[in-house]
Amino acid sequence: MNDPFYVTTPIYYVNDEPHLGHAYTTILADVLARYARLRGQPTFFLTGTDEHGQKVQDAAQARGISPQAHANEMVLRFQNAWENLHIANDDFIRTTQSRHTRVVTTILQDLWDKGEIYQGSYTGWYCVPDERFWTEKDLVDGNCPDCGRPVEQLEETNYFFRMSAYQEWLISYITQHPDFIRPETRRNEVLGFLRQPLSDLCISRPASRLSWGIPLPFAPDYVTYVWFDALINYVTAAGYLSDQDRFERLWPQVMHLIGKDILITHAVYWPTMLHAIGLPQPKTIFAHGWWVVEGTKMGKSLGNAVRPLDLVEIYGTDAFRYFLMRDMTLGRDADFSEAAISQRYHAELANDLGNLLHRLVNMTQRYCEGQIPAPEALPDATTSDLRTHTEILIGETFARVEALALNEALIAIMEVVGEINKYLEHTAPWKLVKQGETARAATVLYYAAEALRLTSLLLHPVLPEKTAELWERLGWQLPARLADGLHWGGLQPGAKVNSGSPLFPRI
Ligand code: MSP
Repeated sequence: MNDPFYVTTPIYYVNDEPHLGHAYTTILADVLARYARLRGQPTFFLTGTDEHGQKVQDAAQARGISPQAHANEMVLRFQNAWENLHIANDDFIRTTQSRHTRVVTTILQDLWDKGEIYQGSYTGWYCVPDERFWTEKDLVDGNCPDCGRPVEQLEETNYFFRMSAYQEWLISYITQHPDFIRPETRRNEVLGFLRQPLSDLCISRPASRLSWGIPLPFAPDYVTYVWFDALINYVTAAGYLSDQDRFERLWPQVMHLIGKDILITHAVYWPTMLHAIGLPQPKTIFAHGWWVVEGTKMGKSLGNAVRPLDLVEIYGTDAFRYFLMRDMTLGRDADFSEAAISQRYHAELANDLGNLLHRLVNMTQRYCEGQIPAPEALPDATTSDLRTHTEILIGETFARVEALALNEALIAIMEVVGEINKYLEHTAPWKLVKQGETARAATVLYYAAEALRLTSLLLHPVLPEKTAELWERLGWQLPARLADGLHWGGLQPGAKVNSGSPLFPRI
């Protein structure tokens, strides 16, 4: 259990506008990292940007500035977006940083020395005006898919990684490690892909065509193919070739979170690269599905439709995070709609959770002089049940998170929130007070408030800001060691509660 938890997101193309797809993977990684921290696991959460390649070079050229200056400007959009979404990453890697280019260069030289990379010739369809290669299947009616003009077959000298040599090895590795590629549908997809002969991987581009990349150390008139460069970020940031101890602790535990569209690069290119380098494999590569709107993948191409990140301004960051975690069954595609966010917001966050807090604070102020009461009366069966269910929920939540069933974790947590609401209805402390049963009323309020404190602690990874606000109202503070808060009895009788505006105001 005290193995470290190392989680990564894909590094995003720096040219893109941060969109829902990027936000989703990053929030997912953040939520998993926060759960790991909550249970006291040493955690390392990495995200970053992919900054080399043709598109960045072209965009910079169009603006008349250097690609580095362009990237330096663009990266801020991601960094600001993540701050806005309460992402608490431990590191942010950029592929143009010297810590990374150094590692890529060393790996390339090493693979070249070992004979894992060779010079060969590449034949493809070349669009002269666009200065880029396309594969046969990219072409539209035999023409360039970008500009529609005719393409010509061109042969070019390049450098290749002997990926094909590792096909059999990879198949048996995947077969023997059922948790390596998840979920199972994706694992089968990769095994299906590996039924065709695997070719070698072209890992270079002539600098005359594309100069914005890491030069090959053994052939400086070539730069490294962006994917070969980008995948290596995951070992660079873990300390490979810079902090070997740290690297050895972290690397075997790594979980790569990716979207299903970048499965082959992560589950075929990357493992064979690691194997050739002589490094162990990641623990898990998990590919999630897409957010779709009426069946169409959402991304920047859907610019005219709902801009999901705009909804953050309406519903708030935490509610947006809640919706994304609640409405996607990991591994499958999920539907994104504003109506669905609004429904979850009002029914679950505003009514069930927000109102519960409001009622509890109100009653504590009216019946207990604004202080958390001491649970003096012996708990009856319903009261004991509430405690038991809340305590059981702790272990169950972590088990569900570990199984990456975040939606189920949230459903179960919200069920207990519902149970606290029903408990108050059923025990009716306002009646107990009228009947002079103040000790019993105090016990009810204590149990309800403590159950809410614990369930909200389990919601903290998803709702970091709102739960902190909630605890302030309950007169409780997060302990320095978060896991210390995960026991019944954290609320101290006598703590002062605070009223305030609704946690989730109606919209
Ligand atoms: N730069 C590469 C990754 C290199 S990792 C070594 C890249 N970048 S990207 O900017 O295109 O990031 C794409 C990520 O966002 C992928 O994981 C992709 O699946 C995800 N999404 C893009 N649109 C998406 C949805 N509509 N829904 C969910 N995620 C999708 O690829």
